[in-house]
Amino acid sequence: MNPDARLLRNPLVALAPTDEGYLAYDTTGDRIHRLNAAAALIVELSDGTRTADALIADIAPMVAGEEARAGCARWIAGAIEDNLLKTLAPGASGPAAPAGEYFSSLALRLRSRGHVLAAFVCQHHAAAQLADDAEHWATLGDLAHIIGRREDARDAYEEYLTLAPGDAEVEHILVSLRGEAPPPRAPDDCIVQLYARFAEFYERNMRQDLEYRGPELLTEALQRVLRPTGALDVLELGCGTGLAAGLLRTFARRLVGIDLSPDMAERATATGLYDTVEIAEITEWLMRSRARDFDLIAACDTLIYFGDLRQVLMPAVKRLRDGGTLAFTVERGEGEPFTLTDSGRYVHGEPHIADAAGDAGLRVLSIDRTVLRYEYGEAVEGLVVVSRRT
Ligand SMILES: C[S@@+](CC[C@H](N)C(=O)[O-])C[C@H]1O[C@@H](n2cnc3c(N)ncnc32)[C@H](O)[C@@H]1O
Repeated sequence: MNPDARLLRNPLVALAPTDEGYLAYDTTGDRIHRLNAAAALIVELSDGTRTADALIADIAPMVAGEEARAGCARWIAGAIEDNLLKTLAPGASGPAAPAGEYFSSLALRLRSRGHVLAAFVCQHHAAAQLADDAEHWATLGDLAHIIGRREDARDAYEEYLTLAPGDAEVEHILVSLRGEAPPPRAPDDCIVQLYARFAEFYERNMRQDLEYRGPELLTEALQRVLRPTGALDVLELGCGTGLAAGLLRTFARRLVGIDLSPDMAERATATGLYDTVEIAEITEWLMRSRARDFDLIAACDTLIYFGDLRQVLMPAVKRLRDGGTLAFTVERGEGEPFTLTDSGRYVHGEPHIADAAGDAGLRVLSIDRTVLRYEYGEAVEGLVVVSRRT
C-alpha cells in the first residue's frame, strides 16, 4: 500500500451498529463482516482524510502496545483486500456514495431471497440516510423483529411512530418490545388494521407459505367426541376468511361466523358456507344475547389475540346448550399463564387453560400438543382444546 494513500470506507458497504461494533454488508461482494469495536472505529475514521499510519496514531490511546498497533495495520490491509476500505492516491477523490434508496431497494431484494440479516444491515443504512421517511423506519423495525434484534426493532418502530403516529399494529407490537403490561386482548383497531392488510393474501400465506393446519387439527379433535351428522347449531369465533367453514359445516345444520375484520368477514360470506357472518367483536357479540342457542362453539387461531381466556370462555359457555362443546386452538407457551409475545399474539400455558375452562364451567376433554403452522421457518407450537359444558 502506498504510505501516502488515504483510507476511505467503501461507500457501497452498508453498516449497522451492534453491541460489539458493526455489522458491515459489502453490497458488491454480497458478504457480511462482523467488526469489533476497534475495527468499527477504524471504519468510522476512514473518511478519506487520513493515511493508515495517521489513523493508527489517532486511535493509539485505545490500542495499547506495539503488537496491538501491528494488529490494526494487519486488519486495515485485510479490510482493503475485503473491499471494506478503499485507498485514495494523494489528490484523488473517492467514489460517490449511493443514495439511501439504493440500500433500501437492495434490502427489499435481499429479504425476498431470504437474506434477512443482510437486508437488515442495508435497511439500517437506508433509514439513517432517509431519516425523515417513516416507511423506512417501519421496514427496519420489521426486519429487526424478524431477526430477533428487539432493541433495534423497538427503536425503529418508535422512530416510525414519531414520524407517523397512529399505527395501531405497531403500537401493539411495541407493548411487548417495551416490556409494558399487556392489554387484556389485542386492541380492536389493531385487529382491523392487521387483517385489512392481510385479508387479500391470508389464505395463500397461511396455507402455502406457513403450512397452517388449525381447522384440520381442530376438526380431528372434535371428531373424537362428536359425530359429523350435520345436526348441530355451530358458532365460529373469529371465522376469518372461512378456512374452517367446510369442516365445521359437516357438524352443522346452522353455521354462524363472527369476525371483527370486515375484510375477512367479506371473504367468509363469499364462501357461501355460513348461514350468517357477522362483523362484531367476539366478547361483545357473545354477551348480546342470553339465549343458549349453540351446540358447538369453535375458534381456530383466534384466541391467540386474547390474554386471559376467561374473558371469552365465560360468555361463550353462556351461549352453549347443556352438554354443548367448546373447542379452540391457541399457541402454546410455558411458565406464565399467558404472555403477549413480540408477534403481538398471546401464548397460553396448559394450566391456564385448565383453570380458565374450570372457572367457566367447562370440563376439558382433551388438550393436544401440536404444530399449528410455521413462522420464519420455525414451528409454531399449539394446543388443540376440546371441552364440554358441565
Ligand atoms: C388468525 S385469523 C384465524 C381465522 C380463521 N379462524 C382461520 O383459522 O383461518 C384470526 C381471526 O380472528 C379475528 N379476531 C381477532 N380478534 C377478534 C375479536 N376480538 N373479535 C372478533 N374477531 C377477532 C381476526 O379478525 C381474524 O380474522
